Amino acid sequence: MDLSELLAPIASDLERVEARIRGDLESEYPVLARLVEHVSRFRGKRLRPALLLLSASACGGVRDLHYGLAAVLELIHTATLVHDDVLDEATLRRNVESLHVRWGNEMSVLFGDYLFARAFRVAATLGDQRSIDLLAAASESLCLGEILQTSERWNAALSEAQYLEIIEKKTAVLFGAACRLGAEGAGATPERAAAFERFGLGFGLAFQIVDDYVDLAGDEAAAGKSLGSDLLKGKLTLPLIRLLAAVPAERRAAVTELFTAGERRQERLAEIRRLLAELGIRDIAVARAAEFAARAQAALAPLPPAPALDLLRRLAALVPTLGGA
Ligand code: FPP
Ligand code: MG
Repeated sequence: MDLSELLAPIASDLERVEARIRGDLESEYPVLARLVEHVSRFRGKRLRPALLLLSASACGGVRDLHYGLAAVLELIHTATLVHDDVLDEATLRRNVESLHVRWGNEMSVLFGDYLFARAFRVAATLGDQRSIDLLAAASESLCLGEILQTSERWNAALSEAQYLEIIEKKTAVLFGAACRLGAEGAGATPERAAAFERFGLGFGLAFQIVDDYVDLAGDEAAAGKSLGSDLLKGKLTLPLIRLLAAVPAERRAAVTELFTAGERRQERLAEIRRLLAELGIRDIAVARAAEFAARAQAALAPLPPAPALDLLRRLAALVPTLGGA
């Protein structure tokens, strides 16, 4: 079963979130309407809203607050993608040209800021201080994750623990916040809300590990976005860390050079792809993602059965097979 089939039971709820996003982004300024039109073509998987709604449903039911929060989460996520494509010099996002390709970096940075500010303004209208706290903490975390990632570029000695800390902060924390927002907004006990957050964290780690493998070895047409930017920007990710650990000591210096040399990117990428295949790194990355997906599922294990819980578990099981953000 694929993602859209799995999410079919909440398709109308997700449509309601879409309508909220459209309403939240309406503007009388033609330039904003055109920028909004561009990002609205970045039709994503809506995973964060889905996790929020399913967590709410598993904890007592979806309320009006949840639709608003799901829209805010997606606005924050969209803002980060607009900025991320500037940082990564990526030209394709969800099969549409990245915003900066059409509008330039200055407008993209400004519009990302606008989306981010708009998200918090909408959040403030929802009248729930606790949610604003959680959203602000998650936003701070993802900025910190990006800062740590940037400060560690070209560091071939980056450890797996350091890598995991970066992806937890830049990606997993927002998934964790999605689940916690859903649970808390539905009146979950603190223990239960923490369990949902742990689910989101495990889910997010698995998701980013797969995304990082796809960035190196995936197919742009299938992923619908620019790939290879981690190598271009000197970001050491799990497949490269594991590749380095797997090559015999005498080849390590040459392989490190492949990650850290500035030029001949296409040739280096081709050689890295060959090595990833030769040394079975795909299986290692998928297994690591599956471990975090299993950790996510384990967080929900003590809870009494519910259809939404079952869906969350199945979504987690699907992550190691997904093809990118
Ligand atoms: C995707 O990484 C990027 C993120 C998960 C976070 C990006 C966050 C920022 C740029 C922080 C500043 C933004 C705002 C508005 C607060 P990736 O490049 O690995 O994923 P990709 O393959 O989808 O591009
Ligand atoms: Mg990127």
